[in-house]
Amino acid sequence: MKAGPAPAVPPVRIDGASGTILLRTTRSVYVLRADSATGSVLHVHWGAVLPWADAVALPVWSEHDDSFAGRRDGVEEYPVDGGARFGVPALEVRFADGSSPLEPTVRDVVLEADDHVVVRLQDRTRPLAWELHYRVPAGGDVLERWTEFHHTGTAADGDILLLRHASAHWPLPQRPAWRLGSVHGAWSREGSLDRCALPVGETVLGSRRGHTGHHANPWATLDAGDADEEHGEVWTVALAASGSWRLTAQHTAAGRTGVVAGEGHEGHELRLAPGGTHRTAVSLALHTDRGFGGASRAFHHHLRTHVLPHPGELRPVLYNSWEATSFAVDEENQIALAKRAAALGAELFVLDDGWFRGRDDDRAGLGDWTPHPRRFPRGLRPLADEVHRLGMAFGLWVEPEMVNADSDLHRRHPDWVLHLPDRTATELRHQMVLDFSRPEVTDWALTWLRRVVADNAVDFLKWDFNRSFSEAGVPGPAPDARRVHVAHARGVHRVLDRLRARFPHLRIEACAGGGGRVDPAVLARTDQVWTSDNTDAVDRLAIQHGFSQLYPAGVMSAWVTDSPNPLTGRVVPLRFRFHSAMAGVLGIGGDLTRWTDAELAEAAHLVQLYKDIRPVVQQGIQFRLLAPGEGPLTSVQYLDASGERAVVLIWRTSPAFGTSCPPLRLRELAPEARYRDEATGREWSGATLTGFGMPLPELPRGDCASALVRLRRVDGRGRNT
Ligand code: GLA
Repeated sequence: MKAGPAPAVPPVRIDGASGTILLRTTRSVYVLRADSATGSVLHVHWGAVLPWADAVALPVWSEHDDSFAGRRDGVEEYPVDGGARFGVPALEVRFADGSSPLEPTVRDVVLEADDHVVVRLQDRTRPLAWELHYRVPAGGDVLERWTEFHHTGTAADGDILLLRHASAHWPLPQRPAWRLGSVHGAWSREGSLDRCALPVGETVLGSRRGHTGHHANPWATLDAGDADEEHGEVWTVALAASGSWRLTAQHTAAGRTGVVAGEGHEGHELRLAPGGTHRTAVSLALHTDRGFGGASRAFHHHLRTHVLPHPGELRPVLYNSWEATSFAVDEENQIALAKRAAALGAELFVLDDGWFRGRDDDRAGLGDWTPHPRRFPRGLRPLADEVHRLGMAFGLWVEPEMVNADSDLHRRHPDWVLHLPDRTATELRHQMVLDFSRPEVTDWALTWLRRVVADNAVDFLKWDFNRSFSEAGVPGPAPDARRVHVAHARGVHRVLDRLRARFPHLRIEACAGGGGRVDPAVLARTDQVWTSDNTDAVDRLAIQHGFSQLYPAGVMSAWVTDSPNPLTGRVVPLRFRFHSAMAGVLGIGGDLTRWTDAELAEAAHLVQLYKDIRPVVQQGIQFRLLAPGEGPLTSVQYLDASGERAVVLIWRTSPAFGTSCPPLRLRELAPEARYRDEATGREWSGATLTGFGMPLPELPRGDCASALVRLRRVDGRGRNT
């Protein structure tokens, strides 16, 4: 008799007697215990799958009588400020009488759905209730957590200020030591990967800028110092938020470790009126035993399965005119570029900055979103029509959240910018930020965006944001003055959501001077992101390596631009520039009117090649075979879901005479299968390619050599057959 299918493991299991809750992902479990007696929600375990009976019985922590110790520091699921707690709180408040300490009591545990459980808490006497939400999205290892606050009192209780209002605290198991992984950077230098020992104390990653930031990104990995790219346990914590944010990794002297993740930096106070509620951003986290690469792949899978609006669509090859024409755009030069772009095989033409009234440079025009009368005397429609006639989609750059002082909008609504009455409104790039927490501002933005998209048959928007916040207050003595650091981004999300609902065909590229606002909340409402303003193909390898830690190649926009690179002056062969950009969503951003016929022919060939590998790169599984800077070669492998095709990109930025490069050991090919190199026709078994390694293709001599290898399974038995 054939065994029937194994009974499905429920994503959430609750033991009423002990208060134990077990969340089951594909390859790990998360266990907590809601203890009604103490009012604590205690963490039990997060990691390897263990039997239910053990999860219920496991002790959590042993209390001792030390009068200086925090009783449950590092062990609580959602530590508050109050009682004998001295660790970093997830929740800190100030009641109307000025007092702060909270005394949590567990009200109940509610199973909202098969995959969603809520632990409901309230203060013992004060009018504040909060709910800890846990969700287990199907088919992966990512968990979602968020918190909702309710002011349960009346006018007599006054307002409650939420001083810290994190989405979650993610406690980690006890290990002898911990290592923290994150990215840092700057404009045009995003994504520098850093892994360092986590010291005892509080290590804070975050943004005080009102946007996610080039300088950090809202995620961190934690490992016990023993993980590598493909092996070992790794925990990742991320936050789906696009304003200011804070991740605090706490490592206590007593050996407890955890990460508190939430919106807002210090001093971000949120006012809750009687009857008022607030829902935090979602924090995402996962555990894997497959190293940093495994953590990235699990996150990519989650973003594709549960976050991106159109994960099944292949992203078009775009042409963007910014580096070619800068602000000096006009109908004639854009059509000239569009013709050349179409001939290369581009599928989307994007008109960048400079197309609107007053925009001759970056000193004026932002806010006045009608076509520049001298540059586009007939409006944008003739260009859009010509682009469509050439067989491409039409894309347009916009920066809706910004205004120049020299604009009609600012002359009409000077009070719409973030400012404080007696402070100088600092200009950066000669521009100020419009307050998108105000409905009249977002209504205005939505109105002109709808008009511009409809009037010009726009298929694609590049939505930019080119400065950080300053003087970002709400005028007056309001104690929740920094609320705009979070509320602005939520306003942007609402505009994006409404715009997409109105134009279901519209696709959006998120940009903030490159990668200044990349996060899971942005990816929930856009289709791709402009990774960096740095288009130097060599610098890009490191930037893309950092980007890939959390985000998949299918959203990573990358252009081939001119050589020498306008930013770095580096001379890079066309083939290497293409191979670097082909690792993500290929675009072209050079001045095609200056490319030689030979260059145009080579580019057209490479675009065609990209279209062939595009499904594997954009939708496949990614393996970082060799990281940039760690040896002479950098390499990335992509494997399509069926296991039929693999693509390998290899770059050598500079030769080092006498150093040998071992065969490249590929990942997760079927050992018994045979794979043919589509260029050379040579065949190797999966066992050879993974065990011995792929013999390296010959690379051209000199700096910036690169190769692309396409492997196709030829024994007719794909992974799914
Ligand atoms: C930002 C973007 C660039 C370009 C310019 C236009 O810097 O990142 O790609 O669009 O703005 O001003």
